[in-house]
Amino acid sequence: MRQKIVAGNWKMHKNAEQTEDLLNELIAEIPTESDTQVIVAPTFVNLASAVDHLEFISIDVAAQNMHQAESGAFTGEISAEMLTNIGVKIVILGHSERRALFHETDALIANKVSTALAHEMKVIFCFGEELKDRQKQQHFNVVQNQLHDGLFHIEDAAWKNIILAYEPVWAIGTGETASAEQAQEMHGFIREIIRKNFGATIAEDVSILYGGSVKPENASEIFSKPDVDGGLIGGAALNAADFLAIINAI
Ligand code: G3P
Repeated sequence: MRQKIVAGNWKMHKNAEQTEDLLNELIAEIPTESDTQVIVAPTFVNLASAVDHLEFISIDVAAQNMHQAESGAFTGEISAEMLTNIGVKIVILGHSERRALFHETDALIANKVSTALAHEMKVIFCFGEELKDRQKQQHFNVVQNQLHDGLFHIEDAAWKNIILAYEPVWAIGTGETASAEQAQEMHGFIREIIRKNFGATIAEDVSILYGGSVKPENASEIFSKPDVDGGLIGGAALNAADFLAIINAI
């Protein structure tokens, strides 16, 4: 049975006090009987306090990025060891904003994936096409290339630490959510590529999340699709009631 997951990518939002306030609102209402994994990804400066705050709560903490090197003269960067050292065992890699705004290439992301896996971290691997790709009917090719070039170097055994997040760039932060049918079509395609390259068991077991303007009003339809195993949530994750509604929609 594939793990259902709802992860909140807070991006560059919430200072220390606002982080504590949001976590307290989530703690107060988080469903305790659900088998859905809930993950929050605050900014770097609030990760340690979030881990401490959630020590006895079924909410996991993820970093939004990390550097591929073990250590060194990389001003402003954070290493995998620095994250695991404070109890952060999940990292988001390859987010479209890292690719577009910080020029992260598939090769660089592949290196980051290798480093995270070497530190026994779970990786939320993000990928997705831009609007121009879809308009030219190239979205399947783009997604296939991002998977091949950024992720498919890993060993079979490493797939237990991979969570996939398909995020069509044109749906991120725009309110233009992909339809549930569009999401299922791409998720089914992704699972088939994995099946062809790594076999049926790995393909069946990997969780594939959808990200891109998921809101309480559209979550249940998207999550109802057979190859959608949850969501990677941006804006709606910054509001406790919305994030909880999305968690309860799965
Ligand atoms: O990583 C999740 C994020 O990119 C989606 O953002 O605001 O469209 O839910 P949003």
